[in-house]
Amino acid sequence: MPRMRTFVIAGAALLVARRTLRRRVKQSPLWPMPALDEPVSGRGRDAAGQGSGVRQLTVVERTAEAEGVVRLRLAGAELPAWEPGAHLDLVLPSGAVRQYSLCGDPATPDAYTIATRLIEDGRGGSREVHELLHEGTVVQARGPRNRFPLHDSHAYVFIAGGIGITPILPMVRQAEREGVPWQLVYGGRSRASMPFLAEIEKLAGAGADRVTLVAEDEDGRPDLAAVLAGAPPHAAVYCCGPEPLMAAVEALLPAVSEGLTLHTERFAPVADAPSGENAPFEVELRRTGRTVAVAADTSVLRAIRDQALPDLPYSCEQGFCGTCQQRVLSGEVDHRDELLTDAERADSLLICVSRARSGGLVLDL
Ligand code: FES
Repeated sequence: MPRMRTFVIAGAALLVARRTLRRRVKQSPLWPMPALDEPVSGRGRDAAGQGSGVRQLTVVERTAEAEGVVRLRLAGAELPAWEPGAHLDLVLPSGAVRQYSLCGDPATPDAYTIATRLIEDGRGGSREVHELLHEGTVVQARGPRNRFPLHDSHAYVFIAGGIGITPILPMVRQAEREGVPWQLVYGGRSRASMPFLAEIEKLAGAGADRVTLVAEDEDGRPDLAAVLAGAPPHAAVYCCGPEPLMAAVEALLPAVSEGLTLHTERFAPVADAPSGENAPFEVELRRTGRTVAVAADTSVLRAIRDQALPDLPYSCEQGFCGTCQQRVLSGEVDHRDELLTDAERADSLLICVSRARSGGLVLDL
């Protein structure tokens, strides 16, 4: 017995040491994945995207992953490494930029894998992917960036709805690889519409109670209150899926939480995102040497694109994707997004929604 205890203690110490080392490596300035690309605007971008952080990827495999979901394998040269939770900014043939979580294996250095569901009444990005990206198609991409990193924890609860499984799946794989206890609740409209079911069932293995699959047409909605109430104390909860699912988890957590920490990733705006009165102001673009006027009824992003930098990148224009984040050199910002952390807000803003609180702003553009 004492021998067994020694083994267990030694194993735990090894795990902690490994994680500490991993964290140190990530914090090192040599780590090749900064949280955010350098601002790419203000320097001009050519079609090949040279010097802009844009790289060319080729669709080398296209698979029907589930009803209405295609999985694409995108190959390229010298692809930056990524970690679970990272996403790629794909520049679609129309020029629209959309974010897709990487759902393949980070250990595959020559290709990224994404999956996307066709949204019939969406803004058109998923339709472009489904209709225009075929094997052999060359597409431009920026990133990967990671706004949803998997933090160290002694236990994980993963909650995914529909296509929200894409950032969660690599997290589950990593938890499994590292021997950290995890459980997954994965819901969808029907089993046929739920991507990656076969792999998830395999991951569940013998301990099938680690995975709860809830197909709405057979089982109704997942009992989130019961899931959270049964979570190990101080576990990390990672949730991605439709807005109502994430709002429900956020609402339930305070009542059931025993030190649970919640991490979410949104690909749609928060329903009650902050808004405020608009007043006109000016923005100086320090590197460009121009000053633009931002009228009360337009955004900083629109004003800059219209008056100075037509190629300035953006995507959602609703403050949830992070594509338009820019560095503030001076001025007081009225932050109107739910995405940036306090540390990021100290010196940057999302120019599609945020404005000057008073006076003007000077941006590093
Ligand atoms: S364009 Fe998406 S956050 Fe601004």
